[in-house]
Amino acid sequence: MTAVSPLHLIVLGPGNVGSAVAAAALRSGHRVTFAVNPDRAGRAAARVRSTAALEGAIVAEPRAAVAGADLVLVALPFAALDSALPPLADRLAGRAVIDATNPVGPGLRHALGEPSGAERVAGLLPGAHIVKALNVYGAENLGGIATAPGAAWPLMPYAGDDPAAKAAVAAFLTSLGWEPLDVGQLSAALDLEHLALLWIRMVRMGGVDGHLVWSALRWTP
Ligand SMILES: NC(=O)c1ccc[n+]([C@@H]2O[C@H](COP(=O)([O-])OP(=O)(O)OC[C@H]3O[C@@H](n4cnc5c(N)ncnc54)[C@H](OP(=O)(O)O)[C@@H]3O)[C@@H](O)[C@H]2O)c1
Repeated sequence: MTAVSPLHLIVLGPGNVGSAVAAAALRSGHRVTFAVNPDRAGRAAARVRSTAALEGAIVAEPRAAVAGADLVLVALPFAALDSALPPLADRLAGRAVIDATNPVGPGLRHALGEPSGAERVAGLLPGAHIVKALNVYGAENLGGIATAPGAAWPLMPYAGDDPAAKAAVAAFLTSLGWEPLDVGQLSAALDLEHLALLWIRMVRMGGVDGHLVWSALRWTP
């Protein structure tokens, strides 16, 4: 893992994805706060207490928590976004927000068609700088990833419109051990969401090892 300045990561959704990324972030020296409404805070606090890899994380009320964010991770079920995000919109304006959600529909099809889920998130958080990332693999790959010296780095594609937010997310991903790959504007998030569906179909239904991640090879013709 590569050293970058410690960030304060605020995680919305202390489930499989949120907890895994939080654990990786803590291991890389970042601070982590789970932003959780009071009705769910007990469950989240219990999870933090019982998970050694989450030692140091705290649980706080969402509007207070996001006010101190360097980076925000949205790791909620897609169906929860319409109610969970608008109350935070004013506090998230101008901030970098990673959207790790996937709108998964029946039969493992994209639940929205077009535009992407990330663009739906952007509509719910006007003024926030949304970066799609951390969505294309299962959570079992998100808790910290290591590569052998000299081996190809595991790839984490990301997409977004704001250059500064993308740079912050790329640095964060690098600190967790990923090779960040800028795949374009936020409109490219639709392709990343389809890539996630491909991964899910291969692994959850097709019997492919869930620790499959992609890597980028470059060659000179
Ligand atoms: N699982 C994966 O492998 C994977 C990989 C990449 C991306 N994703 C995407 O990441 C997102 C999270 O997936 P996950 O597997 O981490 O889900 P999960 O384990 O079910 O966790 C979701 C978290 O969100 C909280 N939550 C649920 N409804 C809420 C609401 N209405 N308001 C506030 N908080 C709410 C839950 O709180 P409680 O604990 O209190 O119920 C839970 O902690 C999804 O959009 C998924 O498509 C998943």
